[in-house]
Amino acid sequence: MAEIKTVGVLGAGLMGSGIAQVAAQAGFDTRVREVSDALSARGLAGVEKQLARAVEKGKLTADDRQAALGRLRFTTDLGALAQCDIVIEAVTEDLEVKNALWRELDAQCPPHTIFASNTSSLTIAAMAAATSRADRMVGLHFFNPVPVMKLVEVVRTVTTSDATFDAAFQFARQLGKEPIAAKDSSGFVVNLLLVPYMLDAITALERGVASVEDIDKGMQLGTGHPMGPFTLLDFVGLDTTYKIAEIMFDEYREKRYAPPPLLRRMVLAGMYGRKSGKGFYDYSVDPPKVAALGI
Ligand code: 3HC
Repeated sequence: MAEIKTVGVLGAGLMGSGIAQVAAQAGFDTRVREVSDALSARGLAGVEKQLARAVEKGKLTADDRQAALGRLRFTTDLGALAQCDIVIEAVTEDLEVKNALWRELDAQCPPHTIFASNTSSLTIAAMAAATSRADRMVGLHFFNPVPVMKLVEVVRTVTTSDATFDAAFQFARQLGKEPIAAKDSSGFVVNLLLVPYMLDAITALERGVASVEDIDKGMQLGTGHPMGPFTLLDFVGLDTTYKIAEIMFDEYREKRYAPPPLLRRMVLAGMYGRKSGKGFYDYSVDPPKVAALGI
């Protein structure tokens, strides 16, 4: 397996730009592809802000920040990723959108290029099948916020070769992350356990067991979680959680993955959490207060 030197990232959203930042800081020549100049500029601005903050806190030298930025290039040209040794996809959770990109890159990239998806719940095998390099397709599942969270799930599907899996596992370590191996079943390890927990919190709220604040406080102070389940739901995004739960329910047909009605209502109402300004909490005030849900 060729040494990984150049990293391509598809998507400059929260996850994509976080992955790109970590790759550039780890010394990789990194190219990030977005669909528009405006989205590329937003991704770059986010990385610049994070790096500037790290310099302010004395966690990064100004020289290292400049070096990382020098290794990072945002583009709208998919062809700019054609010579990358690994391409990590972090676009919307839509199999067709992902596969259209994989097909195009499959035709442009050299045979050694590894394709890795940051999908949180879609099947890696369904992406591998869209390419002529099913043995070089893996999952590399990062966690939000990417620069902070140490874990990466390295996911092998039925077609992934040992050499590809080992290279991806080693690459995650080179990024300064702690990889774990997981099978290509929906939710892998973390979401398999985390999603039912978050859905159960919503069901507990629907049943009137306790308030949003008290459920959050209970789990935070009673189990040492950094965030209670509703703060975490707002952080991950209610729309994202809903989509993941639907995909997992579709895979396992088990009630534990079924999105509770309240989650669906909130998503329909555009209450996505932090990203939309309102979810279980209202972020238009500082500190955020519990949102009125009429339940
Ligand atoms: N990007 C980069 N750094 C960030 C950041 C961000 N978005 N948010 C916070 N940080 C850094 C801060 O700068 C700070 O760094 P420092 O220690 O060097 O000063 C450190 O993280 C701690 O931040 P704060 O002091 O501001 O706040 P907290 O102590 O509350 O930590 C948190 C924030 C790290 C987000 C913490 O609350 C946490 O770990 N929450 C749980 C996050 C979690 O569970 N993520 C996984 C979600 S599931 C997922 O992603 C999978 C997907 O498939 C759904």
